Amino acid sequence: MKRITKAVFPAAGMGTRFLPATKASPKEMLPIVDKPLIQYAAEEAIAAGITDLIFIIGRTKRAIADHFDKAYELEMELEMKGKTKALAELRRMLPQGVNCIYIRQPEALGLGHAVLCAQPAVNDEPFAVILADDLIDANPGVTKQMCDLYDYYQCSVVGVQPVAPEETGAYGIVAGEPMSERLLRMNHIVEKPKPEAAPSTLGVVGRYVLTPRIFHHLQRVERGSGGEIQLTDAIAALLKEQQVLAYRFEGTRYDCGSKLGYLKATVEYAFKHPELAEDFSRYLRERLCG
Ligand code: UTP
Repeated sequence: MKRITKAVFPAAGMGTRFLPATKASPKEMLPIVDKPLIQYAAEEAIAAGITDLIFIIGRTKRAIADHFDKAYELEMELEMKGKTKALAELRRMLPQGVNCIYIRQPEALGLGHAVLCAQPAVNDEPFAVILADDLIDANPGVTKQMCDLYDYYQCSVVGVQPVAPEETGAYGIVAGEPMSERLLRMNHIVEKPKPEAAPSTLGVVGRYVLTPRIFHHLQRVERGSGGEIQLTDAIAALLKEQQVLAYRFEGTRYDCGSKLGYLKATVEYAFKHPELAEDFSRYLRERLCG
């Protein structure tokens, strides 16, 4: 049985909702308190046993590679100044045996196209896809939950959560036959349907475990919603020939691609941060109660 050891992190989107912050740096480098979104995503993958991190990078290509590269001069400087905590934090970022692979998406043609760009690195293996702008607070992490499901069912698994009926137009929406409290055998998936056309209110969020057969379909799907090559459309083709599960994951998701979701995540992670929790709570109380 093949365990999942590869994860793809599409990070080549335009990030238009966060301009001008995303003009020279990808959305995935936005920090939540003191860590960029992409690092939370990498940590989630590593905690699931993944060893090959495949980043799909775009226009603002250097920031993510620079973030994960070893920074010799910075480490020396921290060592000289005795800043051991910060140094340890940097050194812990990528455990031994974890590799970073960077692939360029030459044009932002859509999430499906970004995933297709990973094919030379993924080859003929099942793999995870993690959208770092969907930050999910969960224990165990959602990627681990979904890799465990893959191990058991040996098929693709898509992370979903209930969304407000008026918000279906912002998500891929799935329908299927319930298998258990949190699992559906998917029989339908559609990108951004209007509320009246949506088959359910279960929306896809940025976590997937996919069989390599998805590449066959990604090579063939036409441009879909928004003129982009949609991963959703390739999954719709995949589920005609292979079982695909929809998994209502356990955890709290923050849509950090939107300003409000990003701010909510910042507040919640600040409340949990060991150095900040107390002072930040006091500040907020004073701010809100006058
Ligand atoms: P979004 O739909 O959030 O698009 O992409 P976006 O361009 O990043 O942001 P907005 O809507 O303009 O503000 C979902 C995920 O897919 C990646 C993004 O980086 C994000 O992680 N993506 C999207 C790509 O890697 N390439 C693409 O061509 C499109």
